[in-house]
Amino acid sequence: MRIIKTIAELREALRLTRKRALVPTMGNLHAGHLSLVRIARQRGDLVITSLFVNRLQFAPHEDFATYPRTFERDCELLAGSGCDIVFSPADDEIYSEAQGYTVHPPPELNDILEGQVRPGFFTGVCTVVLKLFNIVQPDVAVFGKKDYQQLLMVRSMVRQLALPIEIVPGETVRDASGLALSSRNGYLNDSQRTEAAQLQKALRNLAVAVQSGRTDWPTLEREALEFLGARGWQADYVAIRRQRDLREATLGDPLVALAAARLGGTRLIDNLEI
Ligand code: PAJ
Repeated sequence: MRIIKTIAELREALRLTRKRALVPTMGNLHAGHLSLVRIARQRGDLVITSLFVNRLQFAPHEDFATYPRTFERDCELLAGSGCDIVFSPADDEIYSEAQGYTVHPPPELNDILEGQVRPGFFTGVCTVVLKLFNIVQPDVAVFGKKDYQQLLMVRSMVRQLALPIEIVPGETVRDASGLALSSRNGYLNDSQRTEAAQLQKALRNLAVAVQSGRTDWPTLEREALEFLGARGWQADYVAIRRQRDLREATLGDPLVALAAARLGGTRLIDNLEI
C-alpha cells in the first residue's frame, strides 16, 4: 500500500491504471469505513482511500480543530482491508489558494435536514468531493448510507454534472447495541455511549409503527422527538421522507426515517430505510 500526499505524485501513480475505486473519508477510520473499502475492492482494480479533514465543511463553531486525526492507525487498518493507495494531502495541498469556486447544491436538497441545521455544510462537502473526483478521476466511488443526504446529493451532482463515475452505496455498520459507528462516537463518555443506541431505537420504533399501518407521520415524528427529549437528547429533527429525494412522502413511496440529535456536546445522526 502506498501513502501519497501530493496531487502530482498521485496523478503519476494513477497513470496507466485500470478501474479506479475511490473511498473518500475524513480519517479516524472504523469498521464502517472499512466496509466501504471492501466494496471498492470488489468494484475496482485499484482502491484509493482519501483521508482529508475538509475544513470547508465545518462551521466556525464546529469541531474542525479537534476532529480526531489518527493517521498511523488509519493506515494500518487500510493496509489490512485491501486498499492500494492512501491519499492524505495536507490542508494546503487541497486549498493552496482560497477556494473561490464552490459547488452550491440545489435548495430542495441543500436547505432541508442536515443542510438546514448546518448551513454551508453541503457546499463544503460537494466542493471537496468534486475536487477529489477531479484529482483521482475514479470510475467508481463508494459512499455510506449512514450519511443518507450526502449520498443522495453526491449522486445528483454526478448526474447533473455528467461525471463519468458510478456511485455505490454501502450499508450502515453498527455496533452490537445498534449504534451506527461514527468518528464522533469517540466524544461520548461511558453513560452517553450506552444512551446513544436510543437514537436508532427511536427510528426502529417509528419504522415498526409505519409498518403496522400508521400514516400519521407528523405525529410519529413528534413522538420520536418526545421520546428523545425525555431521555435528555436535544434533537434537531426526526423526519419521515421518501427515499428517492428526501421530499415529503406520500402513501406508497419507499420511506426513510432520518434523525439528528445532540447528546451532551456530541451531535449524532442516523437513519433507517422503512
Ligand atoms: P466521513 O465521516 O469520514 O465518512 C466517510 C464515508 O464513510 C462516508 O461515505 C460515510 O457515509 C461513511 N460512513 C460513516 N460511518 C459509517 C458507518 N457506520 N457505516 C457505513 N459507512 C459509514 O462523510 C465524510 O467523511 C465527508 O463528508 C467526505 C465525504 C469524506 C467529504 O469530506
